[in-house]
Amino acid sequence: MKKEIRKKMVAGNWKMNKTFEEAEKLITEIADALDEVDLKGAEVVLCPPSIYLEMATDVAYESNFKVGAQNIYPLDEGAFTGEISPLMLKALKVDYCIIGHSERRKYFHEQNDFLSQKVDALLKHDIHPIFCCGEILPEREANQHFEVVKKQLEESVFHLDEKGFKKIVIAYEPVWAIGTGVNATSGQAQEMHAYIRELIAKQYGAEVAKLTTILYGGSCNGKNASELFSNPDVDGGLIGGASLKAKDFLLIISAL
Ligand code: PGA
Repeated sequence: MKKEIRKKMVAGNWKMNKTFEEAEKLITEIADALDEVDLKGAEVVLCPPSIYLEMATDVAYESNFKVGAQNIYPLDEGAFTGEISPLMLKALKVDYCIIGHSERRKYFHEQNDFLSQKVDALLKHDIHPIFCCGEILPEREANQHFEVVKKQLEESVFHLDEKGFKKIVIAYEPVWAIGTGVNATSGQAQEMHAYIRELIAKQYGAEVAKLTTILYGGSCNGKNASELFSNPDVDGGLIGGASLKAKDFLLIISAL
């Protein structure tokens, strides 16, 4: 039997950036560069705004990356003006979707129970959630960061059975590090990633924990990626700002 190994990954979260032309250029540049790279089983995921997903999956079809969405509404269809559904993503052959990003929690008031519905809605269509968790600065300063992350996982993903949970990628993103230029130190990232893996082991057993991909996100760039990724429990990154330039993003991929 083939031995399962934990997947390394770099995912680019473009957020609300790029015109169509800029998006096409960036995707093509990344795709062309990846043609020359041996990813050694690692996965690169591009998460552009939903309006570009079809274009991205067209390019991905003949390239070496996967496509992810940034959000969904947790139903297949209905009267929900402005929303997109997991069924629509599935039809476009989108493989991943970011869930629980701190910007969605903050600006769109998404809470743990709603996020658990989104996780379920994606898994129904076999789309992998990239589930984001992480504390805000006052929570870290009050030494509550472990508790906060534990609650986020308990209330949004730990209801899953083992089969469902194995499809999830976790992204630890301390909110104070997102877009601030202040990344978590290598030690802070490793400490939290090890803690998350321990929680998963308690819930699903050591083997599942060992196989779960846990990404770090928050001001990760070409300069600090190697050090962050060298930690035993950091399996790659969820990248915002530095995913918007092909050169920077490729540098991060090369740090895997
Ligand atoms: P950043 O964003 O890399 O720009 O800090 C990360 C994220 O929001 O996922």
